[in-house]
Amino acid sequence: MIKGIGHNAMRVTDMEKALEFYCGIVGMKKVFDIHQEDGRPWIEYLKVGEGAFFELFYDGVKRREPAYHAKRIGYHHWCVSTNDLERLAQESYSRGWISEPKPGLGRDGNWNLWIHDPDGNALEFVKYSPESPHMKSNAAPYDYDRKGLTGIGHVAFTVSDMDASLNFYRDILGFKLICSLDNESGEPWLNYLRVSDGSYIELFYGGQYKAKCERDDAGFMHLCLECDDVPATVADIRGKGAPIDNEPKQGKDLNTQAWTHDPDGNKVELMSIHPDSPQAKASMVV
Ligand SMILES: [Fe+2]
Ligand SMILES: [Fe+2]
Repeated sequence: MIKGIGHNAMRVTDMEKALEFYCGIVGMKKVFDIHQEDGRPWIEYLKVGEGAFFELFYDGVKRREPAYHAKRIGYHHWCVSTNDLERLAQESYSRGWISEPKPGLGRDGNWNLWIHDPDGNALEFVKYSPESPHMKSNAAPYDYDRKGLTGIGHVAFTVSDMDASLNFYRDILGFKLICSLDNESGEPWLNYLRVSDGSYIELFYGGQYKAKCERDDAGFMHLCLECDDVPATVADIRGKGAPIDNEPKQGKDLNTQAWTHDPDGNKVELMSIHPDSPQAKASMVV
């Protein structure tokens, strides 16, 4: 019932810098924006890959501790899949962000590269290897020849109780556990769940504390999962014990959306795309 990751959403402190980074350097495309009722700018919509978007919200306040912290419960990092990893590695090296001008080989068998955005949020790029558990879990053959950025590879959370999180993402939302990795000391480190071909949720063990969070804090806001039929998905996951925070309703962009949250309180939006919505029109943008 869930087709894939629709978007990742973050609030940023400086939209100009964020757009320069995500569009100018990383290569995403700005496809439309949404304004508040009083006319103030609200959200910039970037296209990451086919059917995958990034929502950037204005007016973030940088109040949180550093954006990346291994023991903090909640958002950890996000990852964009690409077949252009070498270009990004060269670009990142020439800017002094990484120490060698080449990607690394991850423990999961994929090539990757790590940088961070102007607000300090960790951003990973992945180039999939056919031998990785990710690609072996695909339902259909994967197009390794697609150019540029191809989509949202994964969104990663550090969790406080892995059993509770697996119950939510695997048993309730229905994502298959495709890979578990140990760290260098042999302790459980992370679990990968497949949302759709090429898109995953990554769950890290070890969350110990929750940072106090204000509504306008810069950083992660929510993860959106795209469904064909939001009311049917809501009925299904409610029957399996998921909390429903907002019942399905049609938004101003014509899409139907509803809200739930995972056991650590990370907000999850469920959305179906209306054919006349700006998201559907943006799918035509190359
Ligand atoms: Fe990752
Ligand atoms: Fe959203």
